[in-house]
Amino acid sequence: VFDEIAHSLHECGLLNESEGYRRVVVEKPFGYDLASAQLLNQQLHAVLDESQIYRIDHYLAKETVQNLQVFRFANTIFEPLWNRNYIESVQITAAESVDVGHRAGYYDGSGVMRDMFQNHLLQLLSLVAMEPPSSFQANAIRNEKVKVFGSVRPVDVVNDTVRARYDGYASTEGVRADSTTPTYAAVRLFIDNWRWQGVPFYLRSGKALKEKTTEITIQFKRPPYNMFSGQNDSTMRSNILSICVQPDEGMHLRMEAKVPDTSADLHPVEFEFHYKDTFGEDAIPEAYERLLLEALAGDASLFTRGDSIELAWGIIDPILAGWQQEDAPPLETYTKDSWGPAAAEQMIAALGHEWLLGCGGHA
Ligand code: BG6
Repeated sequence: VFDEIAHSLHECGLLNESEGYRRVVVEKPFGYDLASAQLLNQQLHAVLDESQIYRIDHYLAKETVQNLQVFRFANTIFEPLWNRNYIESVQITAAESVDVGHRAGYYDGSGVMRDMFQNHLLQLLSLVAMEPPSSFQANAIRNEKVKVFGSVRPVDVVNDTVRARYDGYASTEGVRADSTTPTYAAVRLFIDNWRWQGVPFYLRSGKALKEKTTEITIQFKRPPYNMFSGQNDSTMRSNILSICVQPDEGMHLRMEAKVPDTSADLHPVEFEFHYKDTFGEDAIPEAYERLLLEALAGDASLFTRGDSIELAWGIIDPILAGWQQEDAPPLETYTKDSWGPAAAEQMIAALGHEWLLGCGGHA
């Protein structure tokens, strides 16, 4: 209906900006694959200028997500470390405890890749990985995000993806009998540029998982030499920076500290920042409140531009196609209330990593 609505608005003269701005807000899903997204962009561009189109991705309006840019570019101490020299891996987890509920009619035709990866997870990835924009203007930011998408190496579907559905999904009302729709996926991808060469980015998302939590984990490299190796507990763990998107918005930084009254036994400690402690329980508006306000104010930085939508589909489409091939990784099953299938642990362990959750309160 987006096409029909936009054209009808046009025919009624409601998109004509001669007497003031005219903006159209488009909610996701924006297309079903690259071809349909391109078509939708063409249909909208036939009657609207790109500057009039506000494509919503509500994750961009989550407070911690907006804060990523302030955090990275209004502080000095992180950006010098924000690269392959100091970062071991980056993980993005968007775990949901709800199952598909009554949404199977929509969800079974989409699955986790279209529902969460193409939009929310890739948007988070671009904000973590992008170069500093030259200004805080919408197009300066979006130009940098587009460059990230353009640098993502085609995913090795056989070795670097896991797909699964929770036990009981197949018998949910609205799920097709021959459904192979995944409700969980984990993907390892690489960004082929100077800053990120060789650093794995692990993305995972699923429904009916143990807890609802969205976090970005920056795992730093371990110090090059352990001078404490003679001590009782001398394990030097990585520093972990956890960017907590929800539910407890904030940041955690894990460091090593000396255990009191030992020579130099090591123990991990955390620095924590919680939005609610500093700004109060009610300080964070609903993402959609922010987005509608920004659309009225004409600031498109929290909205996705047409080219970035298409580039994101360009990353997702080959994974979906790969899953239709004979050598595709099998559709795994995971128990509800777990952290997903064992295959996801194995995939990440292949490069010596493990899934990390650092925002507190996890079982
Ligand atoms: C939506 C998806 O875009 O995001 C849903 O269609 C998902 O399936 C939701 O549950 C998650 O959003 P949030 O804000 O609850 O993390």
